[in-house]
Amino acid sequence: MALSAQSVEPLGASPPPRHVAIIMDGNGRWATKHGMPRSAGHRQGTEAVREAIEGARDAGVEYLTLYAFSSENWNRPQEEVTDLMGLLKLYLSKEIKNLHKEGVRLRVIGCRDKLSNDIIRMIDKAEAKTAQNKQLTLVIALSYGSREEITVAVRKLAKQINDGKLEPEDISQAMVDSALYTYDIPDPDLIIRTSGEQRLSNFLLWQCAYSEFLFIDTLWPDFTKQEFQRAVASYGERDRRYGVRP
Ligand code: FPP
Repeated sequence: MALSAQSVEPLGASPPPRHVAIIMDGNGRWATKHGMPRSAGHRQGTEAVREAIEGARDAGVEYLTLYAFSSENWNRPQEEVTDLMGLLKLYLSKEIKNLHKEGVRLRVIGCRDKLSNDIIRMIDKAEAKTAQNKQLTLVIALSYGSREEITVAVRKLAKQINDGKLEPEDISQAMVDSALYTYDIPDPDLIIRTSGEQRLSNFLLWQCAYSEFLFIDTLWPDFTKQEFQRAVASYGERDRRYGVRP
């Protein structure tokens, strides 16, 4: 059964997770529940993105990763894909100024091959504008799939072997790590999934080796910064051992 984050009292004392990653799920169900089209759920989901960013900043989290569009999401009906891309463009054009003011650095991870040129230009511009910000790194996983990310990394290493620059037996975990989209981002300490579903859906499969997981029933558009705080408090109660006996 999914744990309701509402049942956890904030502790306050434990150090916050350095990196929180969120699988934002339930936009469609939220829309259905309110008798609205799916697009309204995604729009309302953008408000929850604001809440999560505020929650992360308030909690002292350094990295917040949001799973905005998976490589599999390209297979949704064309109308919904267009709608989601439109929302992301709107976000990149309207929200970046505020994020920049608040000291947020933006990083977008994922495969850019299928993204339109205008969205790629907007991403490049937003990343460059916010590159020096230190308050919070907001990582948006867009057209992202973990298996594809690992496949690309393997290809990079194979090419180095092919070029005679690397011996297969010299490949280390750190080298694989450095070949991923997340080469400069610490592994997530806490992964939250909303909407009651309990699966990873091809998200940060390499990086989540020692992550803590929190599954909450809240539909993403209803997610608030208070809920983020409760998630952080729940993380504070976890005993992380990394496979080592205390
Ligand atoms: C999953 O809900 C959500 C998505 C596929 C999209 C998430 C996108 C946003 C919240 C909008 C904008 C994002 C940013 C970063 C500005 P679902 O549609 O699969 O819901 P369902 O399972 O209830 O159908």
